[in-house]
Amino acid sequence: MMKNNQQNGRSNGELLRGMNEALNRELTTIVRYLLQGSSIHGLANEPLRQMYRKEVADELAHAQYLADKIAVLGGRAEVHPDLAPPPQDIETMIKQDLAAEESDIAHYRKLAQMAEDAGLVELKLRMEDQAADESRHAEELRRLQVS
Ligand SMILES: [Fe+2]
Ligand SMILES: [Fe+2]
Repeated sequence: MMKNNQQNGRSNGELLRGMNEALNRELTTIVRYLLQGSSIHGLANEPLRQMYRKEVADELAHAQYLADKIAVLGGRAEVHPDLAPPPQDIETMIKQDLAAEESDIAHYRKLAQMAEDAGLVELKLRMEDQAADESRHAEELRRLQVS
């Protein structure tokens, strides 16, 4: 029994670090998409602008879930988002955001596996769900990419 508790304590520590990393990725994306959704101009770029404005809400919901769950699991949110100014050029923007979304998918899949190992069923499903959302975001970006 004691041994199980110790094992759970250890895996939760690693899990909480991973969730904090995900929270900061989300906060970084929220700021970037918010600013890009405001700075983009031109009729041809309007679909991309609308996409960023819409997806800010998805990323906010992801961040909110993570912040709640970190607290529920007895952790503490450590906020240190990357506030670097976003690119002005559309092509660079899409390329950078596609890479970030792909990396978010991989990170959520890793968290889903860790949640599974810790026996946290609801967290596992939500991490898979958030991976699916990021996968949809990546598809949208690819669709709007000028090839
Ligand atoms: Fe997200
Ligand atoms: Fe996303």
